[in-house]
Amino acid sequence: MLSVDLIIFGASGDLSARKLFPALFQLERLNLLENDVRIAAVARTDQTLDAFLPTLSSKMSSYMGNDAPSDAEWENFTRRFSYVSVNFSEPDKYAGLREWLDDDRISLFYFATPPSLFAPICEHLSQTNCLAGDCRIVVEKPIGESLASSVQVNETLAKYFDEKSIYRIDHYLGKETVQNLLVLRFANSFINSQWDNTCIDHVQITVGEMVGIEGRWSYYDKVGQLRDMVQNHLMQLMCLVAMEPPNSLEAESIRDEKVKIVRALRRIDEQSVEERVVRGQYTNGWIEGAAVPGYLDEEGCAHETSDTETYIAIKAHIDNWRWSGVPFYLRTGKRLPEKVTEIVIQYKSLPHNIFGEDANIPNKLVIRLQPNEGIELSMVSKRQSLKERMALQAHPLNLDFREGSDMDRIPDAYERLFLDAINGDQSLFVGRDEIEESWRWVDQLISACQKRKVEARPYYAGSWGPAKAEVLIEKDFRSWHV
Ligand code: BG6
Repeated sequence: MLSVDLIIFGASGDLSARKLFPALFQLERLNLLENDVRIAAVARTDQTLDAFLPTLSSKMSSYMGNDAPSDAEWENFTRRFSYVSVNFSEPDKYAGLREWLDDDRISLFYFATPPSLFAPICEHLSQTNCLAGDCRIVVEKPIGESLASSVQVNETLAKYFDEKSIYRIDHYLGKETVQNLLVLRFANSFINSQWDNTCIDHVQITVGEMVGIEGRWSYYDKVGQLRDMVQNHLMQLMCLVAMEPPNSLEAESIRDEKVKIVRALRRIDEQSVEERVVRGQYTNGWIEGAAVPGYLDEEGCAHETSDTETYIAIKAHIDNWRWSGVPFYLRTGKRLPEKVTEIVIQYKSLPHNIFGEDANIPNKLVIRLQPNEGIELSMVSKRQSLKERMALQAHPLNLDFREGSDMDRIPDAYERLFLDAINGDQSLFVGRDEIEESWRWVDQLISACQKRKVEARPYYAGSWGPAKAEVLIEKDFRSWHV
């Protein structure tokens, strides 16, 4: 097997210090990086490795806290490093990189840069003969901001790399519990046989965040929560819940099944949008006892008004045999009271309950991605009592993923994704079709909202979003799990 070199473009950026280098370091600590993996930190500043490393080290320490490398670990980790200065938009500045690359090894280019730089970097890499060897490329979202722009990004990448060499990251797929969802569904016969519209009443997917827009106003105001979170993360979670069993764990099998779900999503059009979509925008409020500003008072806000949504709830339908009649309620928002990502599978009520109607408590399977990764199945049992003849209660069966793990922490998504990209496994990366199909669905949802003027309703920071989001689900005689 060929050895792998990692070439990180945007090495001095925030993502690199917060996620990429810490993930690589954790792999090093766990002895999961082959000894001969080399790392090129590529950035614009003309400086030496000795000047680059201390800044990286202090940024990493502030993000990693107690987990930060010791001096000995840092020295061991950074023996792999080179610093290569490249002005991304000038082809004659790629000579240093060409010199560093070794065509007898696999070059894994990681573009931790704004997407507007993908095209010029690819073009210059190609012009300067940096793509002569066996190459892979890893790119981050956003892959476009609409179907048209995502096709453009994908076309650019396809000019220089074939699909098998393109690794599109959706970091949610690297989360441990997301992988566990596959295991839960396809390695447990009793779950698998109860996974359709004969047993399931509805599904809820909630991704609640306590953070605001974290200093990214100018980016965020152009995209909003629908493009930033739903088009990618929530869609991926929905696909994994809803897809048919793939015939193997090969990337193509999984991707084929996921894309069928996106294609089966019922369009949200002008006629149905008001019934099925609620948009919101946070105003000032309180998070964990501290006052926080509203969206329009956030640092960097350039407008007096904005209709960008920081919250969205959607009632989606998958028009296929398995899911006909089972709504999928999706919601995600910033400045909600809790950071929580969970998938709730609500089973149907019993057709007739011999214990009385009050005791008709449908089973519920809660798959928690964060915090406290695990699975909880609420079962109905008899309360132990002599006074009450037959009092029933919902009782959770809990599966805490941290128990039985050989790790004392939950690995970050980027650790898994780096390892897979190094090993050439694309199954947790997103295929071109999936991205484009999901943009197609999102585009028509946006257009329906615009035509019907579905405006972003205010909600207080620290609340669970606009009251209308409660109505969205309660009018179906259901309620949000949290
Ligand atoms: C990113 C979004 O993709 O995911 C951010 O751009 C969001 O706006 C983040 O905060 C959430 O990720 P996680 O892993 O913290 O749930």
